[in-house]
Amino acid sequence: MTVRVVLLGPPGAGKGTQAERLARATGALHVATGDMFRQAVREATPLGRLAKSFMDRGELVPDDVTVGLVRERLSQEDAAGGFILDGFPRTRPQAEALDRLLSELGRPLTAVLELAVPDDEVVRRLSGRRVCEACGRNYHVEFDPPARPGVCDACGGRLVQRDDDREETVRRRLEVYRRDTLPLRDFYARRGLLRSVPASGRPEDVTRALLSAAGVEGA
Ligand code: AP5
Repeated sequence: MTVRVVLLGPPGAGKGTQAERLARATGALHVATGDMFRQAVREATPLGRLAKSFMDRGELVPDDVTVGLVRERLSQEDAAGGFILDGFPRTRPQAEALDRLLSELGRPLTAVLELAVPDDEVVRRLSGRRVCEACGRNYHVEFDPPARPGVCDACGGRLVQRDDDREETVRRRLEVYRRDTLPLRDFYARRGLLRSVPASGRPEDVTRALLSAAGVEGA
C-alpha cells in the first residue's frame, strides 16, 4: 500500500526518528522541512541564511518559502511511491497549500499520524539530543547513544547539540507549536484523517503502532 502521511507532534516528539523508520519500512520518501533548512544553513545558501534567522529564535520560516520548498520536492518523481512529511505542515495556510498541491497531483493524504508525548518527556528528549554535524543523524545521550561518545556511528562526524535545542529557544518552539500547529489536529480530524498514537514508549514499539495506524498490513 502507498502511504502518504503527515507526522504531527511537538518538537522532540520523535517525528524525525519515526519518519526515518517508517520510510525504511514502507519505501516512502522522507521529507523533513527542518532537515532541508539545516542543510541549506550548512551550505550557507541564501535560503539557509534566511531560515537560520527564524530557526535560531524558535520561530517558523515564512509560509511562502516553506510551501515552495515542499511543492518542489513532492513534485519530483521519487515522491510518486509515497511520502512521510515530517515537520510540515505547521500552520493552517501550509495545510491548505498542501491540500491544493496534492489534489493537483492526484495523490491525497492517506493519514495524519499524531505522536502524543507528555511535555516533560519532550524536554528530556530535546535536552539529550545530539546530531552529527556532518550527516545530520540524530542520537540521544541516554536513549539512543552512539557506540563511541561524541562520534557518529554512520560517518564518524562530530556530534553536537542543535543551536535551537537551548532551553530558551525550546520554550519558544513549544509556544509556537501550541499556537500555530496544534489547531491542525482539528483541521485533519474534520477530514477523518487524524490518528493519535501514544509515542512515549520504545522507538520500535512506536513504529509498530504508527504502521498499524497508517493501515500498513503486517504491522
Ligand atoms: P524541525 O527540525 O522540524 O524541528 P521540530 O519539529 O521542532 O522537531 P525536532 O526535530 O526538534 O524533533 P522531532 O519530533 O523530529 O524528534 P526527534 O526524532 O529528533 O524544525 C526546526 C525549525 O525549522 C523550526 O523551529 C522552524 O524554525 C523551521 N521549520 C521546519 N519546518 C517548518 C515549517 N513547516 N514551517 C516553518 N518553519 C519550519 O527526537 C528527539 C530526541 O528524542 C532525539 O534525541 C531522539 O533520539 C530521542 N527519541 C526519539 N524517539 C524516542 C523514544 N521513543 N524514546 C526515547 N527517545 C527518543
